Amino acid sequence: MALDEASEVSEAQIAVHWREEELYYPPAKFIGQANASDPAIFQRFSEEHFPECFKEYADLLTWDRYWHTTLDTSNPPFWKWFVGGRLNASYNCVDRHLARDPNKAALLWVPEPEQEPTVAVTYQELYRRVNELAALLQGFAGVKTGDRVTFHLPMVPELPVAMLACARLGVIHSQVFGGFSGAACGGRIADSQSTILVTMDGYYRNGELVDHKVKADEAVARAAEEGMTVDKVLVFRRHPGEYASKSPMVAGRDFFVDEVIGDYRDALVEPVSMPAEAPLFIMYSSGTTGRPKGCQHSTGGYLAYVTGTSKYYQDIHPEDTYWCAADIGWITGHSYIVYGPLSLGTTTVLYEGVPTYPDAGRAWRIAERLGVNIFHTAPTTIRMLRKLGPDEPKKYNYHFKHMTTVGEPIEPEVWRWYYEVVGKGEAAIVDTWWQTENGGFLGSTLPALQPMKPGSCGPGVLGIYPVIYDEDGNEVAAGSGKAGNICIRNPWPGIFQTIWGDPERFIDTYYRKYCKDPDSKDWHDWPYFANDGAMQAADGYFRILGRVDDVINVAGHRLGTKELESAAVLAEGVAEAAAVPVVDELRGRAVEMYVSLRPGFVASDEIKRGVSDVIASEIGKVAIPKNVWIVADMPKTRSGKIMRRVIAGISNFTDVGDTSTLANPEVVDDIREHVQSEKRARGEVPKALSAKDKEEIGQFGQAE
Ligand code: WT7
Repeated sequence: MALDEASEVSEAQIAVHWREEELYYPPAKFIGQANASDPAIFQRFSEEHFPECFKEYADLLTWDRYWHTTLDTSNPPFWKWFVGGRLNASYNCVDRHLARDPNKAALLWVPEPEQEPTVAVTYQELYRRVNELAALLQGFAGVKTGDRVTFHLPMVPELPVAMLACARLGVIHSQVFGGFSGAACGGRIADSQSTILVTMDGYYRNGELVDHKVKADEAVARAAEEGMTVDKVLVFRRHPGEYASKSPMVAGRDFFVDEVIGDYRDALVEPVSMPAEAPLFIMYSSGTTGRPKGCQHSTGGYLAYVTGTSKYYQDIHPEDTYWCAADIGWITGHSYIVYGPLSLGTTTVLYEGVPTYPDAGRAWRIAERLGVNIFHTAPTTIRMLRKLGPDEPKKYNYHFKHMTTVGEPIEPEVWRWYYEVVGKGEAAIVDTWWQTENGGFLGSTLPALQPMKPGSCGPGVLGIYPVIYDEDGNEVAAGSGKAGNICIRNPWPGIFQTIWGDPERFIDTYYRKYCKDPDSKDWHDWPYFANDGAMQAADGYFRILGRVDDVINVAGHRLGTKELESAAVLAEGVAEAAAVPVVDELRGRAVEMYVSLRPGFVASDEIKRGVSDVIASEIGKVAIPKNVWIVADMPKTRSGKIMRRVIAGISNFTDVGDTSTLANPEVVDDIREHVQSEKRARGEVPKALSAKDKEEIGQFGQAE
């Protein structure tokens, strides 16, 4: 049924137009070596074995004291995992690997300037550096177990070292993405009540040595406004001995780590044996309006979950060279650059800069040179690599056995390029759906055992039992062609423990909506509401449609932005697409599409028509965009998410809101000038918007 034929389409039917994609089967060579290649694993993790199935993950760790209760549900929804157990995360990621192979690289750090050599930090060296920094934090900075320390660090080895040094002491770290502003960092310092800030003078991004220390001054000032005094700012130097910042060091507050660390040379710090339930870190969720949510993650449950999923879903073996091209400032980096891979004793690659600097071949040169065999990135990066260098991968002699996509739904067309061109048809792909709140993957195929389907993440992962509910809490059946709200019926070890300092908001946001009985102590009554829309195919695979508010309601038809964008990238020449609503007198909302083009294509009316035609044929006439705008680049966050709110503001002549967290704020004025002057010429300037419309446009596509 095409939308335009439907007289009335129910709320949840937005996904009915997705075409079923053909399945891809993992290569035999991959299956032959995979960590999970025996289907018996599904039985071990079936619901009848819950929660004890997660013992298999916890047993991948080294415990100081074994736990007595796998899952304690006495205070819903504040679940406790592996209660009674004690362990140290730093010990698990570093010390325990020394006996086997101390001189193997734990970290391979690739500086952005290509002439700077790769730095290998062996497990032995990592052990030294973690111990010395832990000693400094304890002795010089005076932090104690349970304190919070904020990092505002770029992609340098000092970041995992600092995380592990805190973990060694049982100190809770809170890394703020290096690209965020000083003010954003300061707000998070205040929220987490950190007295220590760890930062760096500068780092390379897009060929420039960025002055980063200046943000520390802003952060400390903002924290002070919010009532929090930072006692010490510890400053790593990108080039020890040289100072890359113009910002003066404040006497008595700011210290160069390379000057102080000498006092702790060769110091050893006993790892503090922590209860499984002790918080390991706080990670603020990516929202840019409202107060950011400090997602508090546990030590035992979290580490067990990321270790288990790294082993089975990332297929990490100790002898692999694994490159996750995310930033450690996001949860992906915490779980799948640092904690998961190091807990398994593998070699994990860290890259300082932009994957297309100085040219579109850089990522593939890194892969070739370091012998990377597992590659992990996000659709936005894949689209960028495809846009700038569609034929680059062929020129380099690397071979991936496994690749990951994470962070947003991937358009099937982009997936196929990833598979065929980047993976050279040799790699198994996992499309992993999860969230900052979740610690690790929720939806994915098990790479050797379940076929891939472009655009679908797959079924729930081992021990995760998802369900789709409609607004009233009725189950939406698999294969019904209807979408709804995806929830997880059960707790799992990686789930965050609470929102730091705001347990009420934790319950309200994730559990209130579908709780069956607030007095119940039975986990079955407390489904986790992910705030994502999804649909489930008859084969059990989920297609994630994005945050529930990312829909455009055209004359009562709820159109998923991702669905529109997936259609648009099928059009000739289109590299990337973003759909936004415009207020429309007749239909309530109409769709506007923004697209950027692949190399070799120039903007033309023909391309615009191509976009409209493909949307009409893939989705239906109702979805035909009112306008298609061809832009050089989309406004994006530093994590690569397109800020639909900004272009929605431009299309509707409303305030675009704060653009300071954009990676490329400079594009906003160009797009505004181009779009609004043309709209003026066509008489498409809207009358003043109602407050409600303004609010909706202002928040469109905004991560919660
Ligand atoms: C939101 C979470 C998970 C770490 C990176 C993002 C969307 C995430 C997928 C995927 C479709 C996805 C969801 C989710 N999302 N992965 N594989 N397919 N959508 O973490 O910033 O907390 O964002 O990203 O909407 O809720 P985050």
